[in-house]
Amino acid sequence: MEEFDWKNNITNKEEKIRLGKEIAKKVKDGDIIGFGSGSTSYMAILEIAKKIKEQNIKIKAVPTSKIIEDLCEELKIETCKIGEVELDWYFDGADEIDKNKWLIKGMGAALYREKLNMKSSNKNYILVDNSKFVERLGKNHPVPVECDIDKIENVKEALINLGARSVEIKKSKLKDDIFITDNGKAMLHAWFDKIEEDYEKKINEIDGVLDNGLFIGYDFEVLN
Ligand code: 5RP
Repeated sequence: MEEFDWKNNITNKEEKIRLGKEIAKKVKDGDIIGFGSGSTSYMAILEIAKKIKEQNIKIKAVPTSKIIEDLCEELKIETCKIGEVELDWYFDGADEIDKNKWLIKGMGAALYREKLNMKSSNKNYILVDNSKFVERLGKNHPVPVECDIDKIENVKEALINLGARSVEIKKSKLKDDIFITDNGKAMLHAWFDKIEEDYEKKINEIDGVLDNGLFIGYDFEVLN
């Protein structure tokens, strides 16, 4: 996967550092922790690495993207794959959160492993700065939809039929080509004026879709 924007271009950085320090406080020796992706998770991982070093404790991480795997290697944090271990807890950021605690995630294109971690963890924390709260889900962000490259046109049509106002193909920043995810798939961005409770399931039923960035009805604690 290509480099995300978030290493160099972090919005609301002070809030994200504060949230990172909060999450680092929860880390205990021996914990197996799911690591999210994106700039908030990045700041949190730096704080966790600092604590590990200062207190000489050991943890294992289950990263949600290749870039976070590489970051763990750089910071000398041992990693495991989803399914190899049982997660004690998982933390991640989000792109949007509404009053029902429904989320849009995955603008960093890591939604597939993010959802696996969230589903398999005993306890989840979602770290959101104030810019993430919305009155209506989909107000500021599209729903990311990861799909087979050869099914892009069919998936686009199905998303429009479901009610999407527009659907864009995520482009690579490095080349003028489509962005390829860690799973070798394409990423579509579907803009909706209204998101219904069953859309997460309905989108995943479209032929060729791996998963989508709606997290509806998941169990997590919000840190703000
Ligand atoms: C990545 C994600 C991120 O959690 C989400 O995009 C929020 O990013 P940031 O912390 O940079 O605001 O879902 O796939």
